[in-house]
Amino acid sequence: MSDSSIIAGLDIGTTGVTEVIARVDDEGEISVLGVGEEPCQGLRRGLIVDVDSVASSIRTANKRATRMAGVNVRSVFVGVPVIRISSAKSRGMTATSGDDWRVTAFDVKQALDAARILAIPPDREIISVLPTEYIVDGLGGIQDPEGMTGIRLEVNAKVISGQAAILENIAESVERAGLSIEGRILEPIAVAKAALSDEQIHRGVMLVDIGGQITQVVIFYEGAPIQFLWVPVGGMHVTNDISIGMKVSFEEAEAIKQKNSSIQNSSGNKDEFITDIINARLQEVLELIESETREVRNSGFVPCGVVFAGFGSLAPCIPQLASEILDLPVKIGESRPVRAAKGIEPGSLSQVALGITRHVAEDSGFMFERESQPSAFKGILSEIRGWFDEFLRDFF
Ligand SMILES: Nc1ncnc2c1ncn2[C@@H]1O[C@H](COP(=O)(O)OP(=O)(O)OP(=O)(O)O)[C@@H](O)[C@H]1O
Ligand SMILES: [Mg+2]
Repeated sequence: MSDSSIIAGLDIGTTGVTEVIARVDDEGEISVLGVGEEPCQGLRRGLIVDVDSVASSIRTANKRATRMAGVNVRSVFVGVPVIRISSAKSRGMTATSGDDWRVTAFDVKQALDAARILAIPPDREIISVLPTEYIVDGLGGIQDPEGMTGIRLEVNAKVISGQAAILENIAESVERAGLSIEGRILEPIAVAKAALSDEQIHRGVMLVDIGGQITQVVIFYEGAPIQFLWVPVGGMHVTNDISIGMKVSFEEAEAIKQKNSSIQNSSGNKDEFITDIINARLQEVLELIESETREVRNSGFVPCGVVFAGFGSLAPCIPQLASEILDLPVKIGESRPVRAAKGIEPGSLSQVALGITRHVAEDSGFMFERESQPSAFKGILSEIRGWFDEFLRDFF
């Protein structure tokens, strides 16, 4: 069965691959139908270094998720780390197409597509176009223009591009697993959809995702991301430090680390030596984040504080260390409630994979494109677009 209300989100992480399959209803609400997880060893510091190994993990995760969901999935929306991304401001404009002068999902997509037409160097590719505000007939500051009345729709957007080689490895891994990529979503944007409230995103919040080998940060203000940051350090470095400090294997060190988390969380009893090792590494990461985000924090853009995500954030020292170093209120971000099939525990899922499904479900542009275009036409359109990209590259 293939159906336009099914969305598959794929998280290719340093420690494992997770695929989440969800169904979106008419209100844009998602229900998780299936999940597939599989360890993965083909990444270093957040980047794919072994395409075959990653492809094999994706294939297994996809098999598990589709079996559980009882649906066939041929294309996925994939998370992309914020490593070596760059951002350029752009503006797109379109005339509204509806008979009653109301802005439709199609118009929003047209405006965003217009903002996407931008000259970028040949070794870079556009990952996403993130709207900062919409303007309807000259009236700005609008975040959701659909349904508003007007004849001219403009969008101010940030066009995020990434290194072509990094994106190519992601594409190749997904394709070798027998799937195609329907869209790319920056990982912290996906995590935000899973773990943050709309109010936090609007008022101003910092999100820190501590993974296996990288930590990714995004700061939102007035509904849009204003800063991205990544640090090539994560939970595996903490484990490595324990392994060296205590002269034990990596596996033993990982077990010691996780046991330390659960002991501290339950009884407050701690082993000082292990705690010192863990704290030292996380302190280093947090201090880097502190210096890189100082300007934005000092400008008062983060009233809702910092929210931690990613399984590397389960280290029990995080709340205290982070509130001291960043001087902000700290929360460990639990996933927002979501409907899920029996046996699925949404709180324990990859927030990247889960967040991707919610992001796509709420993005009327994606849903519009899917519903309105037969797949053969989609192929032609992407070929034309590909040619157009080439043209732009040659030209500029
Ligand atoms: N209970 C725990 N206490 C401390 N750390 C934990 C705990 N459980 C998992 N971790 C750590 O979380 C890290 C993995 O996090 P996560 O699954 O978010 O990473 P990933 O998405 O695979 O990697 P990346 O985002 O770097 O590509 C591992 O280093 C692991 O040791
Ligand atoms: Mg991750």
